[in-house]
Amino acid sequence: MRLTICLQSLLSAAALAVDLSQYALTNTGSIDGGNTFPGVSRPLGMVKLGPDLQTGKDAYSGYLPTGDFIGFSMLHESGTGGAPKYGVVSQMPIVGPIKNPLSNAMRAMRAAPDFTEVGYYRSSLKSGALVELAASAKAGMYKYTFPKGSDGLNVVVDVSHVLPSYRGMGLEQHYLGGNITVHKQASGHLSYTGFGTYDNGWNRAGPWTVYFCGRFDAPATYKTFLGADKTSDKLVAFSQEPSYQSNKARLGAVFTFKQTSVVSRVGVSFISAAQACSNLDREITANTTLSKLRQETRDAWNSQVFSKVTTTDTNKTRLNQLYSALYFMHLLPTNKTGENPLWKSQEPYYDDIFTFWDLYRCTTPLLHILQPSYYEELLRSMIDIGRHEGWVSDGRSSFANGAVQGGSNSDNVFADAFIKGVRGKVNWTEAFASMVKNAEVVPPNNHDPRDATGSTKEGRGALPDWLQHGFITTKFARSVSRAVEYSVNDFSLAVVAAGLDREDGFDKYLNRSQHWRNQWNPDMKALGFSGFLGPRDSKGFIKQDPLSCGGCYWGDKYYQALPWEYSFNAHHDMAHLIKLMGGAERFVARLETTFKPNVASGNAQFGHTLFNPGNEPSFTTPYLYNYVNRQDLAVRRSRFVAKSYYAPKPGGLPGNSDAGAMESWLLWNMIGLYPMTGQPYFLVGSPWFSDLTINLGGGGGGGKTNKKKEKKQLVVKANGGGEDRFYVQSLKVNGKAWNKSWVTWDDIFARGGTLEFELGPHPKNWTTGVPPPSMASLSPDQASKLAELWSQGKS
Ligand SMILES: *[C@@H]1O[C@H](CO)[C@@H](O)[C@H](O)[C@H]1NC(C)=O
Ligand SMILES: *[C@@H]1O[C@H](CO)[C@@H](O)[C@H](O)[C@H]1NC(C)=O
Ligand SMILES: *[C@@H]1O[C@H](CO)[C@@H](O)[C@H](O)[C@H]1NC(C)=O
Ligand SMILES: *[C@@H]1O[C@H](CO)[C@@H](O)[C@H](O)[C@H]1NC(C)=O
Ligand SMILES: *[C@@H]1O[C@H](CO)[C@@H](O)[C@H](O)[C@H]1NC(C)=O
Ligand SMILES: *[C@@H]1O[C@H](CO)[C@@H](O)[C@H](O)[C@H]1NC(C)=O
Ligand SMILES: *[C@@H]1O[C@H](CO)[C@@H](O)[C@H](O)[C@H]1NC(C)=O
Ligand SMILES: *[C@@H]1O[C@H](CO)[C@@H](O)[C@H](O)[C@H]1NC(C)=O
Repeated sequence: MRLTICLQSLLSAAALAVDLSQYALTNTGSIDGGNTFPGVSRPLGMVKLGPDLQTGKDAYSGYLPTGDFIGFSMLHESGTGGAPKYGVVSQMPIVGPIKNPLSNAMRAMRAAPDFTEVGYYRSSLKSGALVELAASAKAGMYKYTFPKGSDGLNVVVDVSHVLPSYRGMGLEQHYLGGNITVHKQASGHLSYTGFGTYDNGWNRAGPWTVYFCGRFDAPATYKTFLGADKTSDKLVAFSQEPSYQSNKARLGAVFTFKQTSVVSRVGVSFISAAQACSNLDREITANTTLSKLRQETRDAWNSQVFSKVTTTDTNKTRLNQLYSALYFMHLLPTNKTGENPLWKSQEPYYDDIFTFWDLYRCTTPLLHILQPSYYEELLRSMIDIGRHEGWVSDGRSSFANGAVQGGSNSDNVFADAFIKGVRGKVNWTEAFASMVKNAEVVPPNNHDPRDATGSTKEGRGALPDWLQHGFITTKFARSVSRAVEYSVNDFSLAVVAAGLDREDGFDKYLNRSQHWRNQWNPDMKALGFSGFLGPRDSKGFIKQDPLSCGGCYWGDKYYQALPWEYSFNAHHDMAHLIKLMGGAERFVARLETTFKPNVASGNAQFGHTLFNPGNEPSFTTPYLYNYVNRQDLAVRRSRFVAKSYYAPKPGGLPGNSDAGAMESWLLWNMIGLYPMTGQPYFLVGSPWFSDLTINLGGGGGGGKTNKKKEKKQLVVKANGGGEDRFYVQSLKVNGKAWNKSWVTWDDIFARGGTLEFELGPHPKNWTTGVPPPSMASLSPDQASKLAELWSQGKS
């Protein structure tokens, strides 16, 4: 006994010593539309320091595999689409005399492919300069090695630098003005402080300001410069003035060095230049080396993220996928606590929510499990934003709400947290009030040219129809896809209302959650199936092909997915949906058709299937077989998707990462579960690893840590599995034989638990038990009883 304990503690000490960050491949998803950020970031880091490239197409994260470097900047997003945002607070090394720092000559080609790993980034420029980057949460470090024997070793700080956009939708960022002042540090070397103001980008933000504080570690001379106006590259003047200011024109400074090795440390803040300096001096002291900073970043990822999920599996490909996916789901939202310029508050502040439409299905339920403290901070921040802005929006960036693609999906995030017992410092009265506002108050129209029919900034733009008719007419854009999303949102209100003992709220919103049925057109037909979610006006349905969504964009009837796909999306009302689709057998046949190759006119990269793995409205579909006890097919289809369209390599994502949404879908597939957000249920899949241990931390979501709670974990074991042996033969949950295709929060997460799978090469119909409940399909009485159970933490 004694020996065992000894061995165990030795083993866990050894496990801790393993540098799991070595497995995270930070270029995963960086090309072919994944748009992930391959530069340097801490978990949830405000600073994302990386390269900005230009080729004439949009570089959403700054990075492109080709093109010219136009800067290395401090703020980026990861995995987003639409139009680039950020790419501000930059430096650019330029070798040779500079006539005009605003000219197009201030760029450099690549001499070799960039190198990236957790905590470190390196670019070699054709000019001979080498750029190495490392970062902390609110500051970054640039290390330059210039070529020997060159005349003019410069670092250009262009305050007007932003990521440009070429897509031509009026979403390009604008530089609006700034300020830069050069100082002498105590060391005798130069530093600079100032700010830049910008607007627009994907969420159509108004003006916002970032302050910076940069320090150099080598002797330099400098010139500040001023351009003709906010956009022109015409240089008006160089100056020797120690400070320079303007709100009217492009501006910056050129620093010129004699020595070939130069380190610059830069801090940022959204409050003041003084705070940018204190952020810098607190996080990266003058004696910090690049390698020490790199190591600190790796330590942070290991302790805060990677060590939460461990396995004894040694297959490197699988470890690469596991830790790379964990990495990319922890880049956004960013923790800007202490950096909110808009209001003073004791509450945390999180920004760069891109968007709950993308994140509510897989990412937020996983964050809850892996990062309960962070998750609680995020929820509090959402409530605080609602308190001060009037709305908790589906998206938010640079301290501005927008853009809302479908429903008000912050409602689903709140509901999911609520029914899974998150309490702590979350004020649920206020959270629910924000949900009611989304459900009852028409948000002011922000006149987005993409969709002028209602607000895209916050709330539910098509609410007037939803309230008046219980369906959405084509008077509003995205009418059909929003109708099914509003139903899900209303369901979220129902379950929170039940838990807060607001019986009338429960009845009302549960009833409204069924209104997607009013959009069900039994006469829409395709591929031998009839009945789909269809467009309508106040008189009746409008003809629509279930296999087409037109442009599938802001002004269309369906957003980013086909009628066929959206018709599976009433996840709170599955029993009724299955009935509408003609019963279990027809439902299975329809799902099978979804995955059949050469059926869709589009989706060439996915074998022309109707299923689109790169888009969130399809995320849940492969798992829906579990509702009719065909878990074998859920495993078959979801496994195929995961293995075919995901790989730990630069092109290894089926679409935009969407701020980590894709990676979190993959993680659930690896774990062998799938969360039904807004319900305390997880559909059972098939795990990838022979064993996986998930540290649930303070798991229940309570703010306070407690020794017993800290040891809580979910252990997932799989016997007999392999690349071709993934069908579930049997399952034990907490040691008990299981015949259901689902488990509840209470079963395995509330106090921890174990899942023991037996896997094999052939399908087996082992799910003979009751299918997952569909609360909205029950009679009002039964639904209310179930809601009562949920709010007691049971199911
Ligand atoms: C620009 O910086 C200078 C020097 O720090 C300061 O005096 C001036 O007020 C700043 N201008 C603006 C518009 O903030
Ligand atoms: C580095 O500098 C910080 C403050 O600037 C100081 O507290 C620390 O002791 C120094 N560390 C080393 C190793 O010199
Ligand atoms: C490692 O895992 C990958 C991906 O799951 C698989 O293709 C490969 O065959 C595995 N290698 C070994 C040696 O099992
Ligand atoms: C967010 O940032 C604040 C301020 O720096 C810090 O106190 C808090 O611990 C951070 N939260 C997480 C989850 O890292
Ligand atoms: C929650 O918010 C409500 C409304 O603002 C307030 O009346 C109540 O005191 C808050 N509850 C707590 C525990 O802070
Ligand atoms: C929902 O509400 C409508 C209008 O109040 C009512 O006609 C309908 O019967 C309700 N549905 C259910 C299932 O209670
Ligand atoms: C599972 O059940 C379905 C439907 O009854 C049947 O078609 C299928 O062949 C069964 N699979 C196995 C492996 O028995
Ligand atoms: C499923 O398991 C439950 C609990 O062990 C048991 O009561 C039930 O009879 C089983 N159902 C089937 C169809 O095997």
